[in-house]
Amino acid sequence: MVDIAPGAVPSPNIWNSPQVYEIENRAVDPDGAIEAALRRLRPWAGATVLDLGCGTGFHLPMFAREAARVVGVEPHARLAAAARARVRDLPNVTVRVGTAQALPLPDASVDVVHARWAYFFGPGCEPGLAELDRVVRRGGAVFVIDNDATRSTFGGWFRRGLPSYDPAAVERFWTRRGYQREPLMIRWVFGSRADLAAVLKIEFPAALAETFLREHDGLEVDYAINIWWRAR
Ligand SMILES: C[S@@+](CC[C@H](N)C(=O)[O-])C[C@H]1O[C@@H](n2cnc3c(N)ncnc32)[C@H](O)[C@@H]1O
Repeated sequence: MVDIAPGAVPSPNIWNSPQVYEIENRAVDPDGAIEAALRRLRPWAGATVLDLGCGTGFHLPMFAREAARVVGVEPHARLAAAARARVRDLPNVTVRVGTAQALPLPDASVDVVHARWAYFFGPGCEPGLAELDRVVRRGGAVFVIDNDATRSTFGGWFRRGLPSYDPAAVERFWTRRGYQREPLMIRWVFGSRADLAAVLKIEFPAALAETFLREHDGLEVDYAINIWWRAR
């Protein structure tokens, strides 16, 4: 039986196909633009970092290189186990099963929160934001990384896959809560068309994935994101 903490947002891409999601993570942002932007906004050397919705822990080693301590929180027990296996040689990293709405962490215990394509998608994530208010220390910062559906090839695909998505409502949501928008253009770069095809098929319905593959040549996809962030 798969053990998933209550309150988890269904994430079929990584829940059903963690190996393909690994290919996707490797293809994301080979230029390191996200890491550079986060580092510029709030460096994490010596800090306690929370990677919230850490999945299989792909980003944990990057934070562990400079942070004093890194905690990954993930509601899907099998993914949390994979994250633990990934960081077994990194003594400053721990992984806990849990959700954004009920963080298994004490008050004022975290300096930097990183939530990448996880739970914080705009309206509806208020319980998680309340938990962040509880666990983030003064001087800390929260980073939420999500798609910018208003531009780029991927943004266009995203809106075709989810026509009801309202980017203006999402922007209003974050702005009203004191979050700033750091827009960023990144790239997906794959090693083969087969890898691009596999990733499109975990992100979109099969027919739409086939259409995008027919429309788009090559191994690269331009991809706009927003870093919604707030200093505490
Ligand atoms: C698309 S995956 C991204 C995983 C990881 N952040 C990465 O970039 O590799 C979304 C993750 O959010 C997790 N998730 C879903 N609901 C959550 C919640 N309520 N609190 C925290 N994480 C959640 C899922 O289990 C999944 O691992």
